[in-house]
Amino acid sequence: MLEEKIKQLKEETIKKISEVANLEQLRELEIYFLGRKGELTKILRTLGDLSIEERAKAGDLANKIKNELTLEIQKARQNLGEKTDGSSEKEWIDVTAVKEKEEFGHLHPISIVQYELEDIFTSMGFMVLDGPELESDYYNFEALNIPSWHPARDMQDTFYVEGENLLMRTQTSSMQVRAMEKYGAPLRVVVPGRCFRNEATDVRHEHTFYQLEGFMVGKDISVANLKAVLEVVAKKLYGDDTKVKLRPKFYPFVEPGINGEVTCFLCKGKGCRVCKNTGWLEIFGAGLIHPNVLKFGKIDSKKWSGFAFGFGLTRLAMLKYEIDDVRLLCGGDLRFLKQF
Ligand code: PHE
Repeated sequence: MLEEKIKQLKEETIKKISEVANLEQLRELEIYFLGRKGELTKILRTLGDLSIEERAKAGDLANKIKNELTLEIQKARQNLGEKTDGSSEKEWIDVTAVKEKEEFGHLHPISIVQYELEDIFTSMGFMVLDGPELESDYYNFEALNIPSWHPARDMQDTFYVEGENLLMRTQTSSMQVRAMEKYGAPLRVVVPGRCFRNEATDVRHEHTFYQLEGFMVGKDISVANLKAVLEVVAKKLYGDDTKVKLRPKFYPFVEPGINGEVTCFLCKGKGCRVCKNTGWLEIFGAGLIHPNVLKFGKIDSKKWSGFAFGFGLTRLAMLKYEIDDVRLLCGGDLRFLKQF
């Protein structure tokens, strides 16, 4: 009797489902038959009057039919175009919609200067190399003629990695011996990259900054070659009337060591706020590669000689764009970066 009723309800529901015209009607139908106060529930309420066996049988049947009907309703809903994620509007496309403009990124001021220099150097036959930022004490200091006891280590406050004999490289010079070992002589290389020093930060000091190292190994390389190359670079960077001035400075891995200045690009040497009224900008360290360094790089210093230089890329970008706080460059503040 009860089973009959349940089956009848099923037929009736399926028929009604096939007649439904829209989602609204379907939802009403679902509530009417399967809802908490719906027809099926009403029938199940009367189960209590049956014997235990009959109750179990009718209960099973009712569940089975409930599942079947739920499935039917789901199918009907899809046919009527409802999305399966539960939202009820039919899928539609607004062909008149205006696409929001995508924001494109752009080069960071340091990258701009870096690529400018890479172009100049590759046009002179230099190759561009990358090197590890987490570096060994050996390549960053030892192989650059700076033994552990040497006071020159104090010039660079270094982030050491505990127990590993590793450090965050303090200079791109760390690539000199690596490149010599890998490529031998003759050699022309530039290495742009990030360096790290344990600085107390302020407008002029930052723990993370960029350098561009360069070195050349060949026959009879002298300071004259170094000056010639750097003059080409300075003129391409800042114009044909730019001059290069070399003065002595100590670096353990070059002999002689040089402090390099170029004519201020803003005042052309007259003196202004960018060059602090000197007319000159100090932008690189340089020198002739020390024979000990060539030896570490397995290059015979009797046959070969070379020069090396290091530009402060961060400093170049600051000068070019008149940025007065170095911390802005790695600060990731879009209000600053969007200006370039
Ligand atoms: N590595 C040096 C520095 O960081 C710069 C330099 C490079 C000097 C090459 C001489 C030769 O100060």
